[in-house]
Amino acid sequence: MAKCLALSLIIAGLFIGLVSPQWNILNPKWGRSDEVVNRPEWNILNQRLGKGVVVGDNLKNYCESWRINVELNNIRGFSVVPQECVDHVKKYMTSSQYKADSVRAVEEIRLYMSGFCTLKDDGKDSWIFDIDETLLSTIPYYKKHGFGGEKLNATSLEEWMEKSKAPALDHTLELFHEIKNKGFKIFLISSRKENLRSPTVDNLVSVGYHGWNRLTLRGFDDELMDVKKYHSKVRQQLVDEGYRIWGIVGDQWSTFDGLPMAKRTFKLPNSIYYKA
Ligand SMILES: *[C@@H]1O[C@H](CO)[C@@H](O)[C@H](O)[C@H]1NC(C)=O
Repeated sequence: MAKCLALSLIIAGLFIGLVSPQWNILNPKWGRSDEVVNRPEWNILNQRLGKGVVVGDNLKNYCESWRINVELNNIRGFSVVPQECVDHVKKYMTSSQYKADSVRAVEEIRLYMSGFCTLKDDGKDSWIFDIDETLLSTIPYYKKHGFGGEKLNATSLEEWMEKSKAPALDHTLELFHEIKNKGFKIFLISSRKENLRSPTVDNLVSVGYHGWNRLTLRGFDDELMDVKKYHSKVRQQLVDEGYRIWGIVGDQWSTFDGLPMAKRTFKLPNSIYYKA
């Protein structure tokens, strides 16, 4: 009997030990975790991870792995940043880490240019830049509109773009002029619509970009195709005109995907939105 009781106690102890983290989470009165329980993202996270350990670290790990898998092109086609990760993404996109990551990408481009690009000087060596989150930053817009956590309102984003107030991404601005001065023809290909041509040019010039060869925006027909097809089509036109595409700098995989390919592509970080 005593043996049996002891065994029951041990089992009960184990059971309490196992479930108690959940008790703390589910019932704030039992734990020190009021702060934890009141975080709306916790419930979602808890369902996904299936168990409760340390919430702060779990959430951070979960969101960072979401973010890195977006950058790796493993997570595709998301329409909004998962609600529980909006804060994380916001922190990253406004952090010195985002800057450091972008600066590093620019360093790699310089290395590539100095080591591997042997220009023919026949006027056909070219380089492609995307615009948003590459030359210009739309972060000021997203700061006011949920930072990727709200479904995109294209009308309101375009209204913002019409104001031509997007700041330059300084590291790309420097790179842009270096590439141009090396003798590359520069082509800007953006999924912004054709009706934004004039505010886009104004915006680019006002923050220091000039001397590109062509700016391609999405015409009415292009709006019917997805971004990847549109970029492919424009690259094909360049190749047909005899241009050699040495590199593309962009923040979306759809900017690089498909044929014809550039010799190299360089992805800048962006985990706020996804363009298919
Ligand atoms: C989208 O933005 C426009 C312009 O700011 C606004 O009039 C409209 O109500 C918004 N639509 C939604 C669904 O929020």
